[in-house]
Amino acid sequence: MVTWQLCELTGVYCLLIVTAQLLKKLGCVRDEQFEGVLNKISQEVDRRKHLGVTSAQRAAAIKDIYRPLHPHVYHLQESYLASEFKQIVEYCQSDSATEEGLLGLLEEQVAPRVYRFPLFDKSFCEDLMEELKHFEQSAAPKGRPNTMNQYGILLNELGFDEHFITPLREQYLLPLTSLLYPDCGGCCLDSHKAFVVKYDMNEDLDLSYHYDNAEVTLNVSLGKEFTEGNLYFGDMRQVPVSETECSEVEHRVTEGLLHRGQHMHGALPISSGQRWNLIIWMRASQERNKQCPMCNRTPTLVEAEGFADGFTKHSDPPQNISCALT
Ligand SMILES: [Fe+2]
Repeated sequence: MVTWQLCELTGVYCLLIVTAQLLKKLGCVRDEQFEGVLNKISQEVDRRKHLGVTSAQRAAAIKDIYRPLHPHVYHLQESYLASEFKQIVEYCQSDSATEEGLLGLLEEQVAPRVYRFPLFDKSFCEDLMEELKHFEQSAAPKGRPNTMNQYGILLNELGFDEHFITPLREQYLLPLTSLLYPDCGGCCLDSHKAFVVKYDMNEDLDLSYHYDNAEVTLNVSLGKEFTEGNLYFGDMRQVPVSETECSEVEHRVTEGLLHRGQHMHGALPISSGQRWNLIIWMRASQERNKQCPMCNRTPTLVEAEGFADGFTKHSDPPQNISCALT
């Protein structure tokens, strides 16, 4: 399959201008200070340019080396899903489904258009975490889920896409997002990036305020035991932080939270235990082809591997394209 990503040069120039202005404001004025930052940016751009290839190499090595502990968790089955969730999906698929009717079945949070609902069965979450821990302790190569989370697992490299994440998105999540987020590409989500992030007392405790490289995000708390660590939501990313008030949303084990990818959010520190979250960044090429949600520019595309960043060429059927700045 031919895949694409955004032209690096456009993004780099944009980033350099912003960085120079920001650094000056923060008192970084000496040439060597600025050069140090440029070097780091250049290394990061290089890493991102080769991300698709290195990820495909890791996936091939994992397939070769790694023997799953619970092979069944790689294939989505109805029994893994909470009965409440199956009822919600059934409602969304009915001819009479409306957004208003669906809202009556979901738990809306204080943060606008953030919804929580039971998603998985507890024993499935336990099996999945055991599987992920087993992988973590194996000798197989591991990539970082994104630039913000240090600890976690890229689920596509481990082989979860084809029989788990894609059917979950297409058959179960799309009926909900079509009604909840039609204005943000919720009715045409055609690719995703899925990963698990881990918070632990000796590792990452929290996550800074950010927006996702997604049109719609699903965030599921898989366990284990933890205290505190609520999520918080502000406004859409176009709104200045100085004009933003944040609201806290509790994350409950086995439950999923849906929100718009461009809705600014973060995670407060856990105060004990360990937390695993399944994150699915769902993308709508129809939306992002018009404007990259990470750098606000019209994408200039280069080939990439896998789902990449979910861009497609307008004339082609859905393919996979990525943006170098994400
Ligand atoms: Fe996020």
